[in-house]
This record gives sequence, C-alpha cells and structure tokens, in this order.
Amino acid sequence: MPIKTLGYGLISVGWMGRVHSRGISQVAERYPELGVNIRKVIAADTLSAARDNATQLMGFESATENYLDVINHPDVDIVSICSPNFLHHEIAMAAIKAGKDFWIEKPMGRNEIESREISEGAIAKKLMTAVGFNYRQSPAIAHARHLVRSGKLGQIYNVEVKMIADYVNDPEGAFTWRYVNEYAGSGVLGDLMSHGFDLVQYVVDDITDVCAQSEIFIKERREAAPGTSHFAKNASGALKQVENEDWTSGMMRLANGASGTFESSRIAVGPACEYSIEVRGSLGTLRWNFENLTELQVAFRNAPEYGFTRALSAPDDGEYGRFQPGRGISMSFDDLKTIEASLFIKSVLERKQIAPSAADCHSAAECVAAAKRSIASGTWQSVHQVSGNRTTREKV
Ligand SMILES: NC(=O)c1ccc[n+]([C@@H]2O[C@H](COP(=O)([O-])OP(=O)(O)OC[C@H]3O[C@@H](n4cnc5c(N)ncnc54)[C@H](O)[C@@H]3O)[C@@H](O)[C@H]2O)c1
Repeated sequence: MPIKTLGYGLISVGWMGRVHSRGISQVAERYPELGVNIRKVIAADTLSAARDNATQLMGFESATENYLDVINHPDVDIVSICSPNFLHHEIAMAAIKAGKDFWIEKPMGRNEIESREISEGAIAKKLMTAVGFNYRQSPAIAHARHLVRSGKLGQIYNVEVKMIADYVNDPEGAFTWRYVNEYAGSGVLGDLMSHGFDLVQYVVDDITDVCAQSEIFIKERREAAPGTSHFAKNASGALKQVENEDWTSGMMRLANGASGTFESSRIAVGPACEYSIEVRGSLGTLRWNFENLTELQVAFRNAPEYGFTRALSAPDDGEYGRFQPGRGISMSFDDLKTIEASLFIKSVLERKQIAPSAADCHSAAECVAAAKRSIASGTWQSVHQVSGNRTTREKV
C-alpha cells in the first residue's frame, strides 16, 4: 500500500498540545488502512521549556515562538490549535487564510461570534476541521447513540447531562487565564458545558431552548507564573478577582420534544470527572459516566430482569476494537483523543467532514450563548440553530 506523508504542526505545547501530539503519533499504527505517516514538522509555544519539550522529547523537527511560522511552513499540511481560548480565533483565522486544515480545541472561540466566524470561514474555504469533543468518542457513547437513534429507547422523554469536576475546588488553586473573561470567554459554561451540550446533540437531538443559572463561589484566587497548570495549588501571587462561573445548572428543550436538565461545576468535592449523560425513553433508559468510560448502563421496560444492567464496550462498539481485543479492558482519555485524531486525518485524506466539525462547536457555542442570555435575563432563551457541516445530524 502506498503511504502518504502529512506534515504536522502543533500550536501550543501545554496539556492539550501534548495530548494532540500523542494522538497524532498513534494514528499510523492504530489505523493502518489510512496508509498515513505523520511528520512532526514544527511546534510553537511562547514558553522556552515547552519548545524544548517539543524538539527534545516529542519528536518535532523544530520549534518557534511565533505560531505563524507553523501555519505558514511549506511542509505543514495539518495544524493542531491548543492555545488558551483567547487565541483560538486569531490562530484559526490565520490557518483559514493559509488554507490549512486544522484540529482545534473547544471552546473554539471566546463566544458564539468568534465560533461562527471560524466555522463559516473554514466551510467557505472547503477546509477540514476537527474539534476537541473527545467524550463523544467513547465506544459506549457510540452504542448509546445507536440505542437512541434506532428507536430502541422508544420516545425520548428526558435527558440529564452533568459535567461535574473538582479540578479547582481548592481555594488555594492558581489563578490562570481560565478565570478572566477576556481570555477564556466564560467559566464552566464554555470549558465543560460545551462538551455536555455537544453530547446531548450528538446522542439525542438539537437543543432548541435553555433556561440557566450560575454562581461564582470562590471569588478570588492567587496569581501564578505564566504556564502554570490550572490544576496547580499553593499559588503565592497577588489576589485576583475570578470573573466567570464556577457552577451552572439549567433546563433545556430539544428539537425532538424531549426536555432536559444540565449541571456543571469545577469546584465539586467528591466527583472528579463525573461527565455523564442519562437518556430516559418510553421503553428504556441509558446512563454513561466518563469515570467508567467503557461502561453503558441500560434498563429496558420489557426486559426479563427489571433494572439496570452494565453493558461493557465490546470490539464492535465504535472504535473499541482498535484499542482492546475483548470486553472489560479499560480505555483512556488519550485513546479518545487518538480516535479524534484519526477522524481528523480521515477527513483530510478523503476531503469529507467526518470528525466533529467547527460547525458542531459553533452550535455548542450557541447553546452557551443562550445560557448566558438566560442567566442575564432570568428567562428562557431560544438557541440560534446552526446549519453547515454538522456531524451531530448524521444518521447512525
Ligand atoms: N478537549 C478537552 O477535554 C480539553 C481539556 C483541557 C483543555 N482543553 C482546551 O485546550 C486549550 C488549551 O488548554 P490547556 O489545558 O492545554 O492549557 P495550558 O495552559 O496547559 O497550555 C496552554 C499553552 O499555550 C501556550 N501559549 C500561550 N500563549 C501562546 C502563544 N501566543 N503562542 C503559542 N502558545 C502559547 C502556553 O505557553 C501553554 O504552553 C483550551 O482551549 C482548553 O479549553 C480541552
């Protein structure tokens, strides 16, 4: 089989940048039928330690402080954009101008306007995109989507989605760009609920209306050096004002007539990454929680044994068989990113949008925007509906 080489450029070598790079590295071996070899051409980061990491340990041929060197490099065909949120728009627009396909982290911009410009710009130039909606890549979610969309749960009555994390529950946790609206756009609404809204739209149907509330519980945090992880504790700098929500919850209505609830927190004590979805229909219910990512709990009204059973992912559920040969063997967060990387590469090779698209991310941003309007007004708000190459709307 002829092997095609794609030149890869990475922008920002933080937590997600390193995860993208590992995911890209795995594609050739896990997806041999793609016949692709990835050349890690160049990485960009403003921190010299991150650049050293890229060239000395991660296999990049070169590194730069300026992300434009990545985008405009003649040997770079595909780009990962893993910078803080406030840079997503300017970097993605530069990639669009240069005609480079890109894999970008969520939230794709700081708000729905930046997200729309990125999505529409990429579509206008016929570029392939991928976004970091990794939770939908769990093989158990593939099974869940099939159960819902094939009618096996009957009429869908309710959806409950939760994105409950503990990553900054310590008031001594470092103040980072995530707490400043100019840099992050929002708090848990963009950071975590964008994943939750995407999961609902991917598994069940479009969200049409939301009614939300939010709260900042830890109002000040201490500044830390640039590049400090948001997981870091014991920061010792000046006290800074937290500008965006630690917690949100609300109600939603879906296009198929179902109603739902959502909740997200970054300061929970106990749940660590309780990212879960429960879908209740007239014939059955399903439950999934990222903390047990290869397990789907299902209950069917007419089953001989009434109540929930655990369905562990099997080789024919989604991409599970690429990673493990039989049920019960764990998969990881990084595996979900490898699947996402493979969908990006496949989209690029086939010139067909298969990976979660920028339009999907724009749609989630419109849900976040409606939630923000609802919080400000205290009323239900309709979600602006996004068309374009939405992969959530594809048939199973
Ligand atoms: N998909 C997911 O589940 C998931 C999880 C975590 C983070 N994210 C997203 O990934 C993005 C990055 O988050 P992170 O946790 O990796 O952040 P991070 O703080 O760990 O890394 C950010 C990196 O960007 C670099 N940077 C800053 N300015 C730069 C510039 N001008 N040019 C190049 N690099 C620059 C920093 O030096 C740092 O290395 C965010 O948008 C976040 O929302 C997604």
